[in-house]
Amino acid sequence: MQPSADVNQRIARISAHLNPPNLQMEEGSELRRANCRAKGGSPGFKVAILGAAGGIGQPLAMLVKMNPLVSVLHLYDVVNTPGVTADISHMDTGAVVRGFLGQQQLEDALTGMDLVIIPASGPRKPGMTRDDLFNSNAGIVKTLCEGIAKCCPKAIVNLISNPVNSTVPIAAEVFKKAGTYDPTRLMGVTMLDVVRANTFVAEVLGLDPREVDVPVVGGHAGFTILPLLSQICPQFIQVKPSCSFTPQETEYLTARIQNGGREVVEAKAGAVSATLSMMHACEP
Ligand code: NAD
Ligand code: LMR
Repeated sequence: MQPSADVNQRIARISAHLNPPNLQMEEGSELRRANCRAKGGSPGFKVAILGAAGGIGQPLAMLVKMNPLVSVLHLYDVVNTPGVTADISHMDTGAVVRGFLGQQQLEDALTGMDLVIIPASGPRKPGMTRDDLFNSNAGIVKTLCEGIAKCCPKAIVNLISNPVNSTVPIAAEVFKKAGTYDPTRLMGVTMLDVVRANTFVAEVLGLDPREVDVPVVGGHAGFTILPLLSQICPQFIQVKPSCSFTPQETEYLTARIQNGGREVVEAKAGAVSATLSMMHACEP
């Protein structure tokens, strides 16, 4: 019996997913990718990181590779993915790691993915706001999201690339145009603001930050970052005396939380780019 067109399509999709062409790794290699088996063969989430060779991308790749729920990890960037892929793939955890280099491999990197995390961009330098990244990053995010709409339209998309307040709407418009938009599957990553808020509030209250959970709403830039300092107490009835703040403390905490990114960018003065506390914010 002839397989139906549907079945053929599914087989082609699965084989593209299992054996994406990876010129960087296949050329001159004795061991062909097609001969390799998935480790353990267990099902799990298939995750792609776009911008995987950068300051955020590399430690993020390491964290995702450590996650037992992940079975496949695709690392895509326009530079340096062969090295990062080789490095991360030596970790003795379950996820199979594959590297993809350059725009011509974007679709292979995305095919079949359940979750796509995007830190692709250039980071801001001291003196720049996140908005100054808009011109360069808008185009990058647009192209990557067009690839997602085509190759993994049901994937959950986590946008890290700044300015997050703008890159999320750009992604939304790309997905709307492609007819794949699902607001429950598109997220801007702002957990770092919660992490900072917990740390700074704990300092002021003399608490262990692990006991503190400050709700932060809004966006991820300046005054759009809204720590709800008045909402902390009900969740932490074990805190005695109750955690109210003086107007000065509220002003200090709000400003420090809202300017946390600038604090790191300026302290690093462009010498080291990535925000490493972001990795803690990304941890499951
Ligand atoms: P980085 O410069 O170290 O890394 C960016 C990576 O993106 C590089 O490897 C670069 O080659 C790659 N890249 C550039 N264009 C690309 C493209 N078209 N396709 C794929 N990859 C591409 O920067 P970083 O420190 O890793 O920061 C990345 C982004 O994350 C920045 O925009 C930064 O502002 C943002 N960020 C956001 C948060 C947050 O909380 N949302 C936290 C930290 C950093
Ligand atoms: C952060 O908050 O640390 C990131 O958004 C990076 C930045 O440029 O502020």
